[in-house]
Amino acid sequence: MSTESRPIHKPRIVKIEEKRTETPTITTLMFTDDECSKARSGQFVMVWIPSVDEVPMGLSYASEKGYSGITVRQVGDATKALQNMKVGDQIGVRGPYGNGFKISESTKAFVVAGGSGIATVAPLIEELCKKANEPTIVLGARTSSELLFLDRIKKTTARGKTRILASTDDGSYGSKGLASDLAVTVMQNSKFDMAYTCGPEPMMKKVVEECQKRGVPLQASLERMMKCGIGICGSCVIGKYRVCKDGPIFTGETLHELAEFGTVRRDAAGTKIKV
Ligand SMILES: Cc1cc2nc3c(=O)[nH]c(=O)nc-3n(C[C@H](O)[C@H](O)[C@H](O)COP(=O)(O)OP(=O)(O)OC[C@H]3O[C@@H](n4cnc5c(N)ncnc54)[C@H](O)[C@@H]3O)c2cc1C
Ligand code: FES
Repeated sequence: MSTESRPIHKPRIVKIEEKRTETPTITTLMFTDDECSKARSGQFVMVWIPSVDEVPMGLSYASEKGYSGITVRQVGDATKALQNMKVGDQIGVRGPYGNGFKISESTKAFVVAGGSGIATVAPLIEELCKKANEPTIVLGARTSSELLFLDRIKKTTARGKTRILASTDDGSYGSKGLASDLAVTVMQNSKFDMAYTCGPEPMMKKVVEECQKRGVPLQASLERMMKCGIGICGSCVIGKYRVCKDGPIFTGETLHELAEFGTVRRDAAGTKIKV
């Protein structure tokens, strides 16, 4: 059955079954939903928080049996309400939406993720490892306690030859500095045939430019303000694209041509603001 003919646009009410504190600022909420189990890595859901708002969230977990998760960093009212939810509370979920990552047959994959963006690439890394791809992974965070899913990713990659490198802004784990700088150093010393990235836009911009320079194809997951999530309202536009419908995954070639990428986004009123 095609995604469009399934009833994915109607919010499905699900119960929070488990709440996990991942880092001092990031929390995962687990629930069961059959449609989420069909999601591709990189797709997102619109999450309705009763009496508060509806916001886009990537799926950090989507098991075949429907046990699914969103991993939330608090930035405003909706994310605060999500973090304050308790086991047994209810949310609405519609989707999954968007294009998702295309998993290439490449054997030399490179994954660069920072902050809560690691939530989006964790299922991708699991998929890459299942396909016997052994990616090189760069993870970045402000400080060691904020390095999301480090143990999960180490466990996923334990049997292969995967390289995991990390950077923290304060040097408390891995190398001191930005994940984008570490990624550039890694690229200077290794060849890759596909790169994937998700995280702060300045980080992704640097990775996109480095990949363009070196001719490495890239897929990046973008975040923009979303209201409908299905291509109608236009609140998520970047250039001629709607992030909800044409993305959220865009190629490096497309992003390289987009003047707004890494520079400008829109607030809830549609006003352009600096990234
Ligand atoms: C496809 C997609 C997947 C996402 N996945 C996750 C995820 O896995 N975990 C997570 O914690 N967050 C994720 N986000 C971001 C999340 O949707 C926003 O942080 C959330 O909507 C903010 O709502 P709020 O009411 O808490 O904050 P608000 O008060 O609405 O906003 C707080 C600040 O964040 C900015 N902001 C709000 N929404 C967005 C947005 N959609 N993109 C960029 N900036 C925004 C605002 O301009 C403001 O500066 C994702 C966004 C998209 C588009
Ligand atoms: S969120 Fe409405 S068009 Fe993308």
